[in-house]
Amino acid sequence: MTTSNIGLIGLGTVGSGVAEMLISNPPIFAHKLDKSINLVGVADRSIDKKRTIQFPNSVITTQNYDEIIDNPEVDVIVELIGGIHPAKEIVIKGLENGKDIVTANKALLALHGPELFDIAQKSGKSISFEASVGSCIPVVASLRDSFIANKIEGIYGIVNGTTNYVLTKMNQEQVQYDEALKDAQIKGYAEKEPSTDVDGIDSAHKLTILARMGFNCDFNYSDVYVEGISNVELKDIYYAHELGYTLKLLAISKQRKNGLEIRVNPTLLPHDHPLSSVNGVFNAICIRGDAIGESMLYGQGAGKMPTASAVVADIVDVSLGRAKITFESIKPFSGNCKKINVLDISMIKTRYYLRFSVIDKPGVLASITGILGNHNISISSVIQQDSKENELVPLVMMTHLAEEGNLQKAIIEIDDLDVVKGKTAFLRVEEASS
Ligand code: HSE
Repeated sequence: MTTSNIGLIGLGTVGSGVAEMLISNPPIFAHKLDKSINLVGVADRSIDKKRTIQFPNSVITTQNYDEIIDNPEVDVIVELIGGIHPAKEIVIKGLENGKDIVTANKALLALHGPELFDIAQKSGKSISFEASVGSCIPVVASLRDSFIANKIEGIYGIVNGTTNYVLTKMNQEQVQYDEALKDAQIKGYAEKEPSTDVDGIDSAHKLTILARMGFNCDFNYSDVYVEGISNVELKDIYYAHELGYTLKLLAISKQRKNGLEIRVNPTLLPHDHPLSSVNGVFNAICIRGDAIGESMLYGQGAGKMPTASAVVADIVDVSLGRAKITFESIKPFSGNCKKINVLDISMIKTRYYLRFSVIDKPGVLASITGILGNHNISISSVIQQDSKENELVPLVMMTHLAEEGNLQKAIIEIDDLDVVKGKTAFLRVEEASS
């Protein structure tokens, strides 16, 4: 039986899970493999911290990650420190030293993926990254292997557990955003400094990785339109719910005739859409292809052991030699994919939910619908809520498909009307197969 030697860098939550899996005796996956997987060493800044995990004497433990990267015995470097620096330097040095890389680092891949893939190709080594998106959900493997026969038309879904927890709590318990976020922080689902999650950045990193793979293309991460959930108001969740819609933070990418639509934003889904019932910290990703139609992958999108499961699966993939074959031969890993035009948000076409705060008097509805009509926006339903806030009433509308640029212009004009007070709230809508 041959052995694959692993060097692990980063012993945070996921790193500890991976270490536990690799040193559990007998390794829980060993009965399935005709290959032994051996943890040679681990590096972590706080290696001396008290831990539940006991490393056998044979495992090198160090604060200095160079000891792992420069160790000639190590075949595979597992980078689990996250962030850009020094993760990027670790990956590059590992590749240059002839090691394969396994990583869960979505920020690194979103910002520097093609450059790192290029270095890997030149070094004849691979980078595996299943755990970077959706934790244990095999979405990278699905795009890379299972759905390879398809022309991918769309990839969209819920790829951030923190925001899904917050929105689920707001929706199910009618609590305001701040209270829902606080609860997520108490339960350990949200960081003390939650902006990467709540501002949609984490989702945008993951979407970038999936879109590059699915559409076999390259684009700048900074071209992704990103809007988080911190401005979502409970009343909009409530009114939209009454109209038959559930609010989710969606990561959406679609191949359009004139370019790539790619965006992260709070999105209304019909209650009967499969993503509407993905609640709490769970993730789900829908992939639309010309042969498969639509397929949804669902599971835990974060957490110690689910994410460790995906990392160890990648380690096995590398150890069996499969990663090398796919990395050499499948184009999105070439580091040299065609740049694609990313559509500006003003060019997307979708349906919208709008909420105006208006003075309740004759002619108001006509003024608003007149402006919408002038901008080619057709209304599908209107509800005037009875409730009054400071003599203002909420006027809620759903539109038919409209171009966002037109909608933005109409909102500016509407917000300028004397009878409209405050800023108009709007949410994008996603229907099945739009
Ligand atoms: N913070 C992420 C989430 C998990 O809430 O889904 C790690 O990607």
